[in-house]
Amino acid sequence: MQFHYASDAGKVAADLLVLPVFESDNPLKPYAFADQLGAVKGDIKGKSGEITILPSRGAVAAARVCVLGLGKQDKVQEREFGEALAGVFRHGSIHSLKLRHVAVDLGAVVKLKGIKTETLGRWAAEAAILASYQFDVLITKADKKKETAKEVTLVGGNKDKLQRGVAYGEVTAVYTAHCRDLVNEPSNRINPATLAKFAQDMAKAVPGLKCKVLHKPEIEKLKMGAFLGVNAGSDIPAHLIILEWHGGKKDAAPIAYVGKGLCFDSGGYDIKPAAGMLGMKMDMAGGAATICTLGAIGKLKLKINAVGVVPATENLINGSAYHPGCVLTSMSGQTIEIGNTDAEGRLILCDALTYTQREYKPKYIVDMATLTGAQVVALGNKVTGLMSNDDKLAEKLDAAFKAVGEHCWRLPLPEFYDKQLDSPIADMVNIGGNPGTITAALFLQRFIEKGQKWAHLDIAGPAMHDGEAWGLWNSKSATGTPVRPLVEFAEQNG
Ligand code: BES
Ligand code: MN
Ligand code: ZN
Repeated sequence: MQFHYASDAGKVAADLLVLPVFESDNPLKPYAFADQLGAVKGDIKGKSGEITILPSRGAVAAARVCVLGLGKQDKVQEREFGEALAGVFRHGSIHSLKLRHVAVDLGAVVKLKGIKTETLGRWAAEAAILASYQFDVLITKADKKKETAKEVTLVGGNKDKLQRGVAYGEVTAVYTAHCRDLVNEPSNRINPATLAKFAQDMAKAVPGLKCKVLHKPEIEKLKMGAFLGVNAGSDIPAHLIILEWHGGKKDAAPIAYVGKGLCFDSGGYDIKPAAGMLGMKMDMAGGAATICTLGAIGKLKLKINAVGVVPATENLINGSAYHPGCVLTSMSGQTIEIGNTDAEGRLILCDALTYTQREYKPKYIVDMATLTGAQVVALGNKVTGLMSNDDKLAEKLDAAFKAVGEHCWRLPLPEFYDKQLDSPIADMVNIGGNPGTITAALFLQRFIEKGQKWAHLDIAGPAMHDGEAWGLWNSKSATGTPVRPLVEFAEQNG
């Protein structure tokens, strides 16, 4: 997507000129040329998300105008504008009328109380890029691909501020789109080896971002018995993907992100039914988000230290695969009885958590994973489950989600449910019964060392969005969450 800037909306020769309006009896009133557009009185109400495309009839240089409803004026901030604008970029006419160049008149919005022009630029870029997102690399018939906008001209507002915001939003959006690609890619194309290769190539393109990949012999040397147990049934060896960004003070403890990189989850010997297995290429969404968040942090040159750690493997079946009743010894030394081979995410994460704490002594450690089906039952696919051993950290994460227009909800970690993880023959068992999302987090908490501030994000639902397009998410696609919230969190708290 290319971004340009202009000061006179009437003079931009775009395919479509977006005119934001607020809900009122006569929403088009602020536009002097409104009468020329020929809209039937009363048709346009200005309600949030309302889109009306009209021929411009020479009123402006653009061939068509798009009247974009933003809702009640006193409720409109940058997010409301950005989310409404996203609706324009995914509108059917962008494809059917081949609208390549979209201009957006910001005049009415920059004037609103409390609006920051830079933040507006950021939302405009994120909306344009993320709402235009398509995963079509595997479609070979050109006529089956949707055409999307390629150029955006922002009109009005302080150009320097807009440009700064757009530069930031381009990075967060492009890395969110990379994350979507990784999650949308089928698991015969993105596997532990190709995921590691993606991280290495990504890091090469970002000066100062370091990527290191530990292979199976090194993982064995580290005694990551839980991670290796899950990997045993796969022909592709486990990879531990590590990214480091040093943008802060030399000795400042980093923020650590740890993501579940389970490239395909068959369930293992506790095999999933067909319907449950079908979508399980997305089980590396936490790992993809970790990798792409580090990419964005580096590209933005944030003045912080951060590290990303991704245990990558498949959960498959062969003659060497782990099975119910096995006991694995984790890197921490704690032993784990396997109650269910489908509760594999916590097994690869527990070793990655131990490694990350020992290696980096992080200020905060935040893991993210498509960990439990129970998260989808509890919160659906628009709200991430947040669990933490630290109230302040939980509040900061909640604020970061809100700032970018995404949603999380904190679940408790009561001690009395932890007992459900006790095993008669080992230190613990890998299934703790109901409530599934909380007992999975309590399992992870057993690997958090004393004094370590930790949070866990269960994104089983939000990683993949099947419903109608919503916010900056498109329908039937990976969402790329939580890349944008975690870049925001890193910037505010690193
Ligand atoms: N990857 C799944 C969780 C999942 C389910 C993600 C649905 C996205 C959509 C995870 O590895 C899993 O299988 N969890 C089990 C745990 C159970 C066996 C304790 C689950 O949630 O059923
Ligand atoms: Mn599983
Ligand atoms: Zn899984």
